[in-house]
Amino acid sequence: MYRLVISFLLLLSPVILKANDGYKLWLQYLPFENKAVADYYQDYLGNITLVGKSPTHEVIRRELEIAIEGFFKGTITPSIADHNEYGLIWIAKSEDLSGTFKAAIGEKSKEIKDDGYLIKYSQGKIVVTANSDIGLLYGTFALLKKIQTREKLEGMEILENPKIQLRLLNHWDNLNRTVERGYAGFSIWNWHRLPHHIDQQYIDYARANASIGINGTSVTNVNANALVLTPEYLEKAAALADAFRPYGIKIYLTARFNAPMILDSLPTADPLDLQVQAWWKKKAEEIYSYIPDFGGFLVKADSEGQPGPHNYGRTQAEGANTLADAVKPFGGIVMWRAFVYNEKTPTDRIKQAYDEFKPLDGKFRDNVIVQVKNGPLDFQPREPFHPLFGSMPETPLMMEFQITKEYLGQESHWVNLATMWEEVLQSDTYAKGVGSKVINVLDGSLHGYKLTGMAGVSNIGTDRNWTGHHTGQADWYAFGKLAWNPESHIEEIIGDWLKMTYSNDPDFVNPAKNIALNSYETLVNYMTPLGLHHIMARSHHWGPGPWVTGGGRDDWTATYYHKADKKAIGFDRTESGSNALAQYTPEWKNVWGDPETTPMAFLLWFHRVSWDKKLSTGNSLWDEMALRYQQGVEGARWMQNEWSKLEGKIDTERFTHISSFLNIQATEAEWWRDSCLLYFGQFSGMPLPKGVEKPKHDLQYYLNFKRNFVPGI
Ligand code: GCU
Repeated sequence: MYRLVISFLLLLSPVILKANDGYKLWLQYLPFENKAVADYYQDYLGNITLVGKSPTHEVIRRELEIAIEGFFKGTITPSIADHNEYGLIWIAKSEDLSGTFKAAIGEKSKEIKDDGYLIKYSQGKIVVTANSDIGLLYGTFALLKKIQTREKLEGMEILENPKIQLRLLNHWDNLNRTVERGYAGFSIWNWHRLPHHIDQQYIDYARANASIGINGTSVTNVNANALVLTPEYLEKAAALADAFRPYGIKIYLTARFNAPMILDSLPTADPLDLQVQAWWKKKAEEIYSYIPDFGGFLVKADSEGQPGPHNYGRTQAEGANTLADAVKPFGGIVMWRAFVYNEKTPTDRIKQAYDEFKPLDGKFRDNVIVQVKNGPLDFQPREPFHPLFGSMPETPLMMEFQITKEYLGQESHWVNLATMWEEVLQSDTYAKGVGSKVINVLDGSLHGYKLTGMAGVSNIGTDRNWTGHHTGQADWYAFGKLAWNPESHIEEIIGDWLKMTYSNDPDFVNPAKNIALNSYETLVNYMTPLGLHHIMARSHHWGPGPWVTGGGRDDWTATYYHKADKKAIGFDRTESGSNALAQYTPEWKNVWGDPETTPMAFLLWFHRVSWDKKLSTGNSLWDEMALRYQQGVEGARWMQNEWSKLEGKIDTERFTHISSFLNIQATEAEWWRDSCLLYFGQFSGMPLPKGVEKPKHDLQYYLNFKRNFVPGI
């Protein structure tokens, strides 16, 4: 009897007991949990018709086979017909649909755009249709997602068109396979083995990206090595492009601005020099001879030691346009980064990009899009939206988010980045009055941009689970979903991800979702509450470093940003200070201009506030700061505890991995709280309020704390 019960349980819960290293991401295609569910979907999945022939159709066929194998644990041999009137799932481009289906879909098909798709249930059958092969692939993934999340198929009608055209990952991967700000091992691009060896991981990478609508990848670091533009590497990049093409993913390369000098010993890289312009044109021609559908260049110029147009007294627009003219005849684009600042410019670092780019509005070629980080500083745990959004009506701007968590605890902290991204995307710029959200800038609706885009700095590496922390996969997933539609609901995104990746059991999904949704505020509290920023350790940015000062570049220190002294703390960015606030619309100037009306989240970002200032909570600034640090620590412990209750609900391998990372997170949250409060406490001179735990060590201990070989530099 005992044995029988065990084997019955084994049958029912294969997912729980089977070790899982996370490699399959959200494409687990977890087995149906019981016979009734299996029977329900079998009717459909056993009767699929896929019409048409192309490499993308082959990808669709293979994906369906993988899914069916997973759902039915290999007990069913997938058979997908080319043409069968009896198919219950019909996957066909609109031009390939037979009359009956055309009639069933009717006018709706007219609403499908380039990459879009329609899934419609009609008279017992499901039609997945699109105008392009890639649209069909996206539609197939969408249908598979419905089955992965165990939704009913009857009555289904989904029409989806992407709201953003360029949906890109940006890898900061070096040719030697180290990854700048990468915390999940080495670069997955094995350049040495390319072009001859196409690793299965490249294919799985393409599958994962296509499943969330990502349609481009820039494979090399923005701190660029010109070598990638040489035939040796172009041949390798072309092999990647060939592998990605059936998945609708274009390849882009980072261009080092002085490449003409490095590669061909030109005396200058001046963008207005005719020889230089000819060089880029020839280079573009060469690249397109290897990669006919090459996407274009991503450029970091005049920033953090990178060469750029400034070296020749030229503007960012003049620099961008030279490269843009070179790729234009081939349909290529240039993504020119707005992350331009210089320690020699005497203004507040966060003002510099706006000061430089705003006057250039309208001066860029029509195949240039300016890529702007979400906030004006540099991927801090919390920043207000970048003031360029809404300020460049004549120049398309695209968003750059950082999926890798350089300043957010790196690989070992669980923080649901989509919560932060949503906050930025939903911010109203008021550029054209109420309702001029960052989203409306990005999707082109506010200013009529012809090019639209969103890029995410990748968190992918050679770790078996791709992202170091298993939950880093959720950030990759959410990035794709938000790039497709920035209005997507983040609760739904995280819920779907949990179901597809782990289990459909609500007793797992609901509590895990709750942890994820609380994780962002928790992290902000134990790292940078009340609008503090850039107080991380020097160079590697892991762990606290509010004491970082001196060393040649003031704008890379912590003291530049928090300015703590015996009286007060915070950066005055109002008229009486750097006046960075002037870069925002009057609506924001009114809110953020006065400490009384500034939300506490941005208090010290915009204001210098005395330690004993009474805040709306009734606490002094010092007490509020200390209590928030404490709250953050308690939040991290709560996450640990909530997660521990989920033991047995998913496989032990991933459960344990996440548990041990949560332990690191809780310990590091204490480290942040204790060291920051000890450090700032020297200035406030005030005691810790009731409820805040005493630090474990003295300040000297934290000042001396040093770790060697922190990854990602
Ligand atoms: C940050 C990061 C750098 C990176 C830079 C960029 O400053 O620390 O490693 O190169 O951003 O976005 O270009």
